[in-house]
Amino acid sequence: MTLPNYVKLIDVGPRDGLQNEKQMVPAAVKIELVHRLQDAGVCQIEVTSFVSPKWVPQMADNAQVMAGIARKKGVRYSVLTPNLQGFEAALKSQPDEVVVFAAASEAFSQRNINCSIAQSIERFRPVVQAAHAAGITVRGDISCTVGCPYEGEVAPERTGMVARLMKELGIDTVGVCDTIGTGTPRKVQRALEAALAHYALDDVSGHFHDTYGQALANTLASMELGVWQFDTSSAGLGGCPYAKGATGNVATEDVVYMLQGMDINTGIDLPKLMAAGHYISEHLGRATLSRAAKALMAKTAVELAAAPA
Ligand code: HMG
Ligand code: MG
Repeated sequence: MTLPNYVKLIDVGPRDGLQNEKQMVPAAVKIELVHRLQDAGVCQIEVTSFVSPKWVPQMADNAQVMAGIARKKGVRYSVLTPNLQGFEAALKSQPDEVVVFAAASEAFSQRNINCSIAQSIERFRPVVQAAHAAGITVRGDISCTVGCPYEGEVAPERTGMVARLMKELGIDTVGVCDTIGTGTPRKVQRALEAALAHYALDDVSGHFHDTYGQALANTLASMELGVWQFDTSSAGLGGCPYAKGATGNVATEDVVYMLQGMDINTGIDLPKLMAAGHYISEHLGRATLSRAAKALMAKTAVELAAAPA
């Protein structure tokens, strides 16, 4: 087993995290979070979604947030676009990547994007064409690859089927998503293998919500297959308004801490990343959900208290 020596982390906190907050987060705070993440060395950030503001009002300030970011060279900025209308709105903000999102479960597809899996694939067709014409790459996120809040367990073949349809459409890369965090390492590996039957290793990423505390183990299990790209959220923000009870993505801080301990490079400065997570957690009025950040902050507080004046 050879683990990758570099892992790319896409921080999806500004999008996956803040789409799920009851309180409205001002655009200026979202922009500051993006700035802090890029200053910490995060090389790709999922900033916002161009979805219906009636469905997800938290992302209604999408264009304002994109316009407010002082872009850093070398950093890629991605946004969610469920259909051509969303893509056309997003295009004005010049994202580096757009993300279309389908599900491996029919029930979740209906609840999340109001159409069947087959219909969603047809909606993506013009998005892919328009994105490629504009020189923008397209990622296809596949939700509920191991479990669905409405249908229960999801067979790997379902992920394989959606990955095949995405590949046929010309979608560049796929994200294998455990939307409700019920996955365990072997199940996640089966879902990834189903996607890997259609996509090259460098074109498959993992996106694990941590509802059941399995996301770090699932990340490591993915790395055992050679997968080296993951969506994570600073401070463990996240959730999907159409997957009730699901908590945030695995905290970026926790993944960076694990990888640093394994001498695997991410290019991310952990103290700066923790500061970004602390910033957004303070704004939301709660403690970070990152176990590593909590422990390191507590240790620092003890050391400061013990230090001579
Ligand atoms: P619909 O109602 O079927 O759309 O929604 P429609 O085409 O019939 O249009 C109805 C209205 O929506 C019209 O407005 C359109 O203009 C408007 P009206 O005439 O009624 O005023 N509309 C839009 N407005 C803005 N931007 C758009 C857009 N499209 C239509 N792009 C739709 C279909 C997909 C739009 C809707 O279901 C939707 O917005 N869903 C959002 C779902 C969402 O954002 N979920 C969370 C993100 S996914 C996620 O978190 C999972 C992920 O993290 C991976 C994982 O963990 O599994 C990615
Ligand atoms: Mg998600």
